[in-house]
Amino acid sequence: MKNIVILVSGSGTNLQRIIDTIESGEIRNAKVSLVVADRECYGLERAKNHHIENILIPRGKNFSNELEKVIPVTTDLIVLAGFLSILKPEFCETWNGKIINIHPALLPKFGGKGMWGHHVHHAVIDAQEKESGATVHFVTRGIDEGEIILQKSFEVTAEDTPQTLAEKVHYIEYEIFPKAIDKVLNI
Ligand code: GAR
Repeated sequence: MKNIVILVSGSGTNLQRIIDTIESGEIRNAKVSLVVADRECYGLERAKNHHIENILIPRGKNFSNELEKVIPVTTDLIVLAGFLSILKPEFCETWNGKIINIHPALLPKFGGKGMWGHHVHHAVIDAQEKESGATVHFVTRGIDEGEIILQKSFEVTAEDTPQTLAEKVHYIEYEIFPKAIDKVLNI
């Protein structure tokens, strides 16, 4: 059984999707052993509702050090599922190849510092992009720069707003995130 630690900052619909697809067997042979939030958020409630061990470590400069202390040594994969803090380079190196993130755009476009959530969707609309999508990638010391595991796009239409893009991106995320997690765990 592979052990997954999930980091969240928000509503946690991707966390919910991971929990559900482990239960359905789409993600094989895995268990969410811990959920860590960097702020009060509904993602933490979802963990509690499913009786998954959970902890709140307030965001800030000590976050990565505190996280290192609570992550079980048996952890196979750390999954950033709507997680908004930046992990320290040392942490990324210790867990090299074992941290993945979902990003709400087609990396390498619209990534980097400040590019998260609605900021990304606003930037995509402002740039009059013809397509957007979601990307699952390995986390390295460079923000949103790690190797891409899975990516899927959709067409952006003239009627789209940041809100409609966020919805469309979420649907794509629900599809590719479980596939990417299963792939990385079973390489
Ligand atoms: C997702 O769209 C995810 O790609 C994005 O936050 C949303 C979280 O939704 N992550 C980032 O912007 C990270 N840079 P959720 O809390 O419902 O899973």
